[in-house]
Amino acid sequence: MQHQKILILDFGSQVTQLIARRVREAHVYCEVHPCDVSSEWVREFAADGQLKGVILSGSHASVYEVDDKAPEAVYELGIPVLGICYGMQTMAQQLGGKVEGSHTREFGYAEVRARGHTALLKNIADFTTPEGHGMLKVWMSHGDKVTAFAPGFEIVATSDGAPFAVIADEARKFYGTQFHPEVVHTPDGARLIANFVRHVCGLAGDWTMAEFRQTKIAEIRAQVGDKRVICGLSGGVDSAVAAVLIHEAIGDQLTCVFVDHGLMRMNEAEQVVTLFRDHYNIPLVHVEAEELFLGGLAGLTDPEAKRKFIGKTFIDVFEEEARKIGGAEFLAQGTLYPDVIESVSFTGGPSVTIKSHHNVGGLPERMNMALVEPLRELFKDEVRDLGRELGLPPAFVGRHPFPGPGLAIRIPGEVTKERCDILRKADAIYLEEIRNAGLYDAIWQAFAVLLPVKTVGVMGDGRTYDSVCALRAVTSTDGMTADVFPYDASFLTRVATRIVNEVKGINRVVYDYTSKPPGTIEWE
Ligand code: XMP
Repeated sequence: MQHQKILILDFGSQVTQLIARRVREAHVYCEVHPCDVSSEWVREFAADGQLKGVILSGSHASVYEVDDKAPEAVYELGIPVLGICYGMQTMAQQLGGKVEGSHTREFGYAEVRARGHTALLKNIADFTTPEGHGMLKVWMSHGDKVTAFAPGFEIVATSDGAPFAVIADEARKFYGTQFHPEVVHTPDGARLIANFVRHVCGLAGDWTMAEFRQTKIAEIRAQVGDKRVICGLSGGVDSAVAAVLIHEAIGDQLTCVFVDHGLMRMNEAEQVVTLFRDHYNIPLVHVEAEELFLGGLAGLTDPEAKRKFIGKTFIDVFEEEARKIGGAEFLAQGTLYPDVIESVSFTGGPSVTIKSHHNVGGLPERMNMALVEPLRELFKDEVRDLGRELGLPPAFVGRHPFPGPGLAIRIPGEVTKERCDILRKADAIYLEEIRNAGLYDAIWQAFAVLLPVKTVGVMGDGRTYDSVCALRAVTSTDGMTADVFPYDASFLTRVATRIVNEVKGINRVVYDYTSKPPGTIEWE
């Protein structure tokens, strides 16, 4: 299958995959490759005549700190190039311009004024000043700036801190933006990228999730051959979509293993088993390992220790099952892009670990199996699109995300069976009320958290001394940032009343009003 395509060269920015996402949103096929591919590689990549444009990503570094350059072939193929931030700077430098450290470092919101007309900015202005200048609201994040033109370039937009906010060589169709159009904080950035790939590069925009499905199926077949694959089902949408996709690719060479760690929500385990065994006829091993997990969690209170234990135990159980099944050389996982980016830096270098994600962080190399991760470049809503495309039940596909370590990270402090049962009841009431109110689909994720705090209450004539339950609900597009869901007070009152009345062990309910950042969505 041949697609017209865009090449994204990654210079190590944390948001490179967002560029890929924006390109996909414009229904254009793209691939992300490291910036240090050779010119020969680029020419080979373009040899089928389908490469229609190149995007150079940003970087966490300055052009003075690193020496990463785009392979020269990028500028010699006669196709459009868009450089973003570092990508623009390296392009400017490579083509004969100059980049200098800036006295005014610009981070965050900035307003860019269009000067003249360019295909890149066509029909995108957020607002017009009283003088009639078209203005674009953008997200800047840079300390260096281009200070001298490369031959052929003109300034087409400026900001206070970046006089060369957008540069263009219309003849060669080379463009650079000092800001980041790929992030949501640049409200019209998606349109800018769509302009580039659709109008400047001239791609038809006919690439769809149906084609992603076919591309991935072909890739999975090529990777796996006639070998066997084991897929861990977590009960969530991601691993389910991965499993169904892989099953479509290789049929019963796939065996699913559902490690039931006892940290699932109410009735969740049964639902997973029914869906996969009965509905899809996918070979499924159901491992009931509640005792093993709860036994090991006894006494653990540190969030990272809990996560690490669960990740490691999960892998142990897997290894055991893999051995029993025998002959599986591949391990499939529903790892998504946000899991990848928050656990390791894209380039594999050191970056701050916010949380050890269950799917990625716990994978010891001793597991002598290769990974199949067909969703690795997708964001949650794209996985849902793919799930619908694969015919998974809409209610299942629409389910809120649920983390691999399950309820353990929603019970700060020690996790016990008793506390899991209490939380399951509160969580079920909360979700039932959300569904009854017709709010489920408007919320990215909603769940209850059982706090290791006891407070005094009064019920009937008696004093109570029980745990506090916190409710969380957020809206988000990708889980990387999130806003608090603004319930009516009457809704929260109803949920709180029901939980305190119906769940023994909880006598107080609070609502978490923290966005991400600075909070994370889960409490641990
Ligand atoms: P945080 O809490 O990091 O969560 O803001 C972002 C999203 O990721 C989910 N999450 C996980 N998913 N394994 C997963 O599969 C994990 O270890 C894990 N930890 C957090 C979280 O539920 C939210 O949707």
